[in-house]
Amino acid sequence: MSIAQSSFVSHLEGAIDGSHLEPNVVQTLHEGRPIWVRYDLEAVGRAMDRSDLIGRPSSLWRYKELLPVFDDSKIVSFGEGMSPLLASPRLGASLGLNDLWVKDESQLPTGSFKSRGMAMAVTMANHFGISSVALPTAGNAGGAAAAYAARAGMSCYVFMPEDTPIINQYEAIAYGAKAYRVNGLINDCGRIVNEGKQIMGWFDLSTLKEPYRIEGKKTMGLELAEQFNWELPDAIFYPTGGGTGLIGMWKAFQELAALGWLENDKMPRMFSVQSLGCAPIVEAFNNKEKHATPCVNAHSIASGIRVPAAVGDFMILDAVRQSGGSAIGVEEERIGEWLRLGMSREGISICPETGACIGAVEKCLEDGIISASDRVVIFNTGAAQKYSEALECEIPSVDKDNPIDWATI
Ligand SMILES: Cc1ncc(COP(=O)(O)O)c(C=O)c1O
Repeated sequence: MSIAQSSFVSHLEGAIDGSHLEPNVVQTLHEGRPIWVRYDLEAVGRAMDRSDLIGRPSSLWRYKELLPVFDDSKIVSFGEGMSPLLASPRLGASLGLNDLWVKDESQLPTGSFKSRGMAMAVTMANHFGISSVALPTAGNAGGAAAAYAARAGMSCYVFMPEDTPIINQYEAIAYGAKAYRVNGLINDCGRIVNEGKQIMGWFDLSTLKEPYRIEGKKTMGLELAEQFNWELPDAIFYPTGGGTGLIGMWKAFQELAALGWLENDKMPRMFSVQSLGCAPIVEAFNNKEKHATPCVNAHSIASGIRVPAAVGDFMILDAVRQSGGSAIGVEEERIGEWLRLGMSREGISICPETGACIGAVEKCLEDGIISASDRVVIFNTGAAQKYSEALECEIPSVDKDNPIDWATI
C-alpha cells in the first residue's frame, strides 16, 4: 500500500483560496497563509462508525481515521489526549451557571494542550525524515516541542520572549532543546526562526505554519463530542492566541457533522477569549473585519494569549462568526482573581489564559449573551503550576518557638 493510501487524507487545501495541494510531501504555508488537511470522509464513514471507538486506547490516537496517520511506526507519543471533562457545579454557582464543565488540558503531557498539536506535528516531521525543528513560543509550545523532539530523537531550537514564564524557559532546556530568550514578543521570535531556517536547515513548527498542529488540536473537539455522547454543548470558551485550538475544534465539529456522528444539528457557539492587554481578534470581530490589525504594546500575564498578530486570524474570525459566538476581551488586571476563583472552587489547576475565560463567562452572563441554563464548556488549556509568576502571593508565617495566636489562623 502506498503511503497516501494508508490514511484517509485526501488532499491539503490552502485556507486562503481553497486550492488543492499535494498531501504527501512537506508543506508549510500557501500564499503566506495556513493549510488545511482534508479527508475522504465518505471513505471514513464506510470504514468505521462512532461505536468502533469503544474499547480503543484512551488517547487522541483513538481517532486515527480522522488524523494524518500515514505510518504507525512514525507516531511520536506519550499517550496524550482524552483529558477529563469535569462537571464544575461550584464554579458554575459562583458565576450563575447551572451546567458548567471544564475540559481539563492541564493533565496532558508537559502540562498543556500544546502536546496535542506537537504530537501530530512531530509525528509528521518524523514521517518526513526531518531531524531538526525550531519554533517561536509564548511558553507552553516550547516545552511541548522540546519534549516531543526529544522523544523522536530530533534537535529542537526554541526562541521565546525574555519574560516568558520561567518554568517554560527551564522545561524547554531540561527536555534538551537549545532555548534562547529574545528581547521582544512572539512575532519577533517568529522572525528569527524564519531567518534561521534558511541558514540552519530547521523545519519551522510555528503555529499554523505547518498543517498538522491544527489536526492535533482538533482532537479536543472530537473528545468533547464523544464525552458528551455526541451532543455538543451550547457554548465553548477558549483562550485565543494563535488560534489553532479554536480553529481545530470548529473543524472537528464540521467533520463529525459530515460523518453523521452527531446526535442533532446543534453546533456550539464559539467564544474566543483574549485579555484587553492584547486583543487583536476581539477588535477585528467588533469592527467586522476579515483580518486583525496587529496589537501594539501587547501585554498579559496570560502569556499564551499574548499574540499580537496571528497568521490564521481570518480562520479564527470565520469560526467564531459561523458559530454565532463572539470574541470577548476581559480586563487584564482581573485575570489572577478569576484564576483563583476557578482553582479554589473546583480544585482544578487553572492557567491564567483560562482565568481570562472565566472572566469572559462572567461578562457574557451579565450582558445576556449566554444564559444560566446553557451548557457551557471552558477549556483549561494549561496547568497553573507552570505560572509561578501568576501564582505569587503573600504567605503568612507561623513561629514554631512562640505560642500560636489561633484567633489569627
Ligand atoms: C495555556 C495556553 N492557552 C491558550 C493558548 C493559545 O492557544 P492557541 O494558539 O490555540 O490560540 C496558549 C498558547 O501558547 C497557551 O499556552
